[in-house]
Amino acid sequence: MRTAVIGGAGFIGSHLAEYLLDAGDAVTVLDDLSRGRLENLGACLAHETFTFHEGSTLDTAAVGRAIRGVDRVFHLATAGGAHAYTDRPLAGLRSTVHGTETVLDACLDAGSELIVVSSGDIHGRHVSGRLSGDAECILGSPLTPRWAGVAAEATEEAFAQAYGREYGLAVSVVRLFDTAGPRQGGRSGGVVPTLVKQALRGDPLTVHGDGRQTRCFSYVGDVVPAIVRIAEQPAARGLATDLGSTQEVSIIELAERTIRLLGSRSMISFIPYDDVYGPGHEDVRRRSPDIALASRLIRFRPTASIDTIILKVAKDILSTASNGIHAEAVHHAEAVH
Ligand SMILES: NC(=O)c1ccc[n+]([C@@H]2O[C@H](COP(=O)([O-])OP(=O)(O)OC[C@H]3O[C@@H](n4cnc5c(N)ncnc54)[C@H](O)[C@@H]3O)[C@@H](O)[C@H]2O)c1
Repeated sequence: MRTAVIGGAGFIGSHLAEYLLDAGDAVTVLDDLSRGRLENLGACLAHETFTFHEGSTLDTAAVGRAIRGVDRVFHLATAGGAHAYTDRPLAGLRSTVHGTETVLDACLDAGSELIVVSSGDIHGRHVSGRLSGDAECILGSPLTPRWAGVAAEATEEAFAQAYGREYGLAVSVVRLFDTAGPRQGGRSGGVVPTLVKQALRGDPLTVHGDGRQTRCFSYVGDVVPAIVRIAEQPAARGLATDLGSTQEVSIIELAERTIRLLGSRSMISFIPYDDVYGPGHEDVRRRSPDIALASRLIRFRPTASIDTIILKVAKDILSTASNGIHAEAVHHAEAVH
């Protein structure tokens, strides 16, 4: 099978590219390296059936070149993360909406199947119950950058479904919730690696707001095979399938577990949202997927616990960084492994 991964130099995309190569696919990655890194593709670059194209989803010719002759496309190159829409709102909105439309058109031209990787963020302010793919979305004002970004992600999904209905494109949407693991990093790079690095350095662990907001963290090694199995499941077409963990933790609990597991002497420091994202930022209090559809379609069952994820992320950080990492924390974390 010939497969393209758009956004494949990023955190999840690079794991997906590796997984597909191991499964025997010929893999092409298109990435503008705005947040991704070539180092993430270290294991792929030497592979003879791997091709890398540097380019943007906003460049129709580049997308067409990357997708030509490809059987299926995984699209992970949306703006992603609240910072993407607060720092450079236009670039973020264009990337998510126009970039996705370019990918949809190219898939139609090439006759490729498409899997759009979206986000559980689009459920917005929901706090009650678990959230299924067709649950209602409760969004704040699109005049704020944060909610405008979420509206753009909802529009991306709407475009995907409309191409399916009107043009017959074989398209599935997968919604990821908080996913963590090796290689996650950068400004919007996730709370787990941020807290783990701080704990390993002996720095204060920075918790946004009151820390009582809850999330369900899943391990990238659980999520990537599930994305591929959804792609191979015709019954998933035209649906949005949530993939995530059902183990819900507050961010303060995540910080406490990280300190305990890594034997760190760090304290916890609370940072107001306004200091992180600018005035008026609104975080969601709870984000929890409903994996009933994924269980039915592919028997999805995430296996990694939050403690396992923290330790795997710590191990990855220890293997790539030494400067500023507290020697005692290194010994403790290594002993735990
Ligand atoms: N990591 C999570 O916890 C999480 C949670 C929910 C949803 N998701 C979704 O999963 C997908 C991948 O997330 P990730 O954590 O790997 O993010 P990431 O930022 O590590 O990867 C995204 C990749 O896309 C590339 N990219 C961005 N805009 C581009 C453009 N216009 N043209 C070409 N390349 C572009 C970036 O350089 C990067 O390599 C995203 O769609 C994101 O919204 C991730």
